[in-house]
Amino acid sequence: MVGVVRQAGGPLGRHACVTGRPKTAGPLPDSPIDVKSTPWALPRALAGALIASAALVALLAPAAHAQDATRGAALYRALPGSPGVGSCISCHGEPVNNRNSVLRGAAGGTLISRTIAAVSAMGYLRQFLSDADLADIAAYLGTVVPTAALETLPEPWPTVDDFGVQAVGTQAAERWILIRNLQPRGDIAIGGVVSTDPMVFPVQHECPLTLPPLGQCRVRTWFRPATAGPAEARFDIVAPGGQVLRSGRLLGTGAALQPPTLAWLPATELIDFARVEVGRSAEVRLQLHNPGSTAVSLQRLRSTGPQALRFAVAADCVASGRIEPGARCDVTVTHTPRSAERAESWVELGSDAANAPLLRMQAIGVAPAAPADPSPAPPAETPEEDRGGGAISAAFALGLVLAVVALRRGGRKKRPGPG
Ligand code: HEC
Repeated sequence: MVGVVRQAGGPLGRHACVTGRPKTAGPLPDSPIDVKSTPWALPRALAGALIASAALVALLAPAAHAQDATRGAALYRALPGSPGVGSCISCHGEPVNNRNSVLRGAAGGTLISRTIAAVSAMGYLRQFLSDADLADIAAYLGTVVPTAALETLPEPWPTVDDFGVQAVGTQAAERWILIRNLQPRGDIAIGGVVSTDPMVFPVQHECPLTLPPLGQCRVRTWFRPATAGPAEARFDIVAPGGQVLRSGRLLGTGAALQPPTLAWLPATELIDFARVEVGRSAEVRLQLHNPGSTAVSLQRLRSTGPQALRFAVAADCVASGRIEPGARCDVTVTHTPRSAERAESWVELGSDAANAPLLRMQAIGVAPAAPADPSPAPPAETPEEDRGGGAISAAFALGLVLAVVALRRGGRKKRPGPG
């Protein structure tokens, strides 16, 4: 099976915006941009919560101007009235990801107005938005990330983690998210990492006040379902000033009885393909084990994340949708670099069991040794996946591996969780 990107953005996720002017003010381009930065967007369901946090930030910010950031946040998501065409979010996604430099709009309504005049795809917006509206949108964009470009923000890995099924009133095994500074130069100041539901999804970060270049820190997460059924929370990485820098999601499902817990054999939390030549593939085999005494039904087993398509996860149990009690399912993970660049991803597992530990995958694509017979250079990185990862050195990747190993060792000794 081929890895499939499950965009955190759901329907708003991976769109490429039209570059031509819409015929009239007709139904808009739900279609997309030529994306220059990370093509993720947060799910629509989180929009309300984001608006709320934007409002909070707006309240905390010095009241220097009269623009209304809360109103701007709403306008960013939906144009006034019901014009039947999308607003900014339909092309740019969540602004925190700064797709197509949308955060430059924080400079003010005038810049947005000029952009609307200059970018034909955005031209139709003018008839729906007044100068005051644009100023409010600019004020909202100003609350998202005042100065930073995406590369200068802390990068969570993964951005979505799923605990799977857990008995109500019990606590799932600890999982963790890595927060990285992917820049070779420049610190990132971290104010904290907070959960929107600290009772059900407590989080505890171990991040320093400033994350040095190529540094990383860990956020430990737990799931304590209070009721049966699906549960979800957002984790926000916030700056010392309270601005939300990046967000991600924690998922789980509460159940009356504790189901089996899936496990990787051998126990693995990172597959490091190391260096793989462009034009070749590398493969790793492992097994997904159901150690329990009841069958597990499996809905998904795939690579996910911004560079998910470079990794493929294949397993027979996906086709059969079942892992019998005590059975092991053979899983083959493949990496095929598209360019000489670092790539990372993780495995998304969907089942009615407690989840196996998160399995991260990483690799570094390297240029093939010069062939005797000159052939065309490998195609350049596709813009939609260009995340500036090329700047990350092999040493950094090695550091990650070591860190993961160290964390696994250290993690075992730590206490089981808060409370
Ligand atoms: C139909 C798709 C679409 C919609 C809707 C849209 N944009 Fe854009 N926007 C684009 C594209 C495409 C670019 C990139 C243009 C380029 O780089 O040449 C862009 C670029 C921008 C930029 C960067 C300008 C710069 O100086 O680099 C800003 C700011 C911006 N948009 C703000 C907004 C705001 C605010 C809204 C909502 C009111 C919005 N956009 C709605 C497609 C869209």
